[in-house]
Amino acid sequence: MLQKLAEIKSKAIDELSNLSDLKELEAWRVRYLGKKSELTQILRGVASLPLEQRKAVGASANELKATLERHYRENKDTLKERAFQDVEAAAKVVKDVSLPGRPIPLGRLHPTTQMVREICDIFVALGFQVVEGPEVEWDYYNFEALNIPPDHPARDMFATFWIETESGQRPMLLRTHTSPMQIRVMERTRPPVRVVVPGKVYRYEATDATHESMFYQIEGLAVDEHITFSDLKGTLYNFARRLFGEERQVRFRCDYFPFVEPGVEMAIDCMVCGGSGCRLCSGTGWIEILGAGMVHPDVLRRVDYDPEVYTGFAFGLGLERIPMLRYGIDDIRLFYSNDLRFLSQF
Ligand code: DAH
Repeated sequence: MLQKLAEIKSKAIDELSNLSDLKELEAWRVRYLGKKSELTQILRGVASLPLEQRKAVGASANELKATLERHYRENKDTLKERAFQDVEAAAKVVKDVSLPGRPIPLGRLHPTTQMVREICDIFVALGFQVVEGPEVEWDYYNFEALNIPPDHPARDMFATFWIETESGQRPMLLRTHTSPMQIRVMERTRPPVRVVVPGKVYRYEATDATHESMFYQIEGLAVDEHITFSDLKGTLYNFARRLFGEERQVRFRCDYFPFVEPGVEMAIDCMVCGGSGCRLCSGTGWIEILGAGMVHPDVLRRVDYDPEVYTGFAFGLGLERIPMLRYGIDDIRLFYSNDLRFLSQF
């Protein structure tokens, strides 16, 4: 039996020097240390040997097992290191310098960003400046300075996300529209003012195909001497034609917004049916796209603009509605669900 153990030992150690990779080493381990290996069989049989052999065979078999295990570990480390070096060396070989480079997948601008830029470009061409403002806003700018005091029924138009503030602090919120920037701009400049303000706005509302709790608006404001309602109409008519096509008709109707007087809503004739009535325009032939009006004298007074000297017009539109109309997108939630199948179409 001792003779047998010696044979196993020399054979196993001999074979070790010929192993070239980890797979072969694993086969070696199974052969000499596995459940069915001779050594394991011998170890199992030790208990049934006659007493005088038991001690010697047991000791020597266990010693062999320990030796083989140690060899196994050492060889595993060396082979691992060698495999790693092989991969590294292969990576360093330049295979074919004439191959074209691998294309890098390019992203693109989000459809909302594209729309913001397109609309801003139109107004920049008309002499407007682009400015941005805070999304976390004081109640004062979002409501009060725009003629919407705390108990004003117009507050019902805006479901608001309030920010928790310490008692005694002024109330703070996520802006429900971009109109507060009218006030901020007028507070820090004197007329002439011509600005457009793109940005995110927030409403605390259940979402559905036409409502999101976060969406974009673009606000516009022009204040100067001698600005009239004709300037408002001319500017917005020009804008509608540049955005929706030269043949567009526009319609202005009275509407109410506390910070303008008079207030209007502007509609364009439906680009699908041309005005005869279809599903897109709910059979009316017209599609409402924005709210506007002449800046209320009280708003001007609040920022120290003399309403006897200065007049102005303002407008605001929901941004996502435009690509929705243009491309027939039927659910606003698609814009902000990060689905590449949707986004990569633009
Ligand atoms: N801020 C209004 C809204 O969110 C839209 C609006 C209407 C803006 C009339 C204006 C305006 O500047 O003159 O519903």
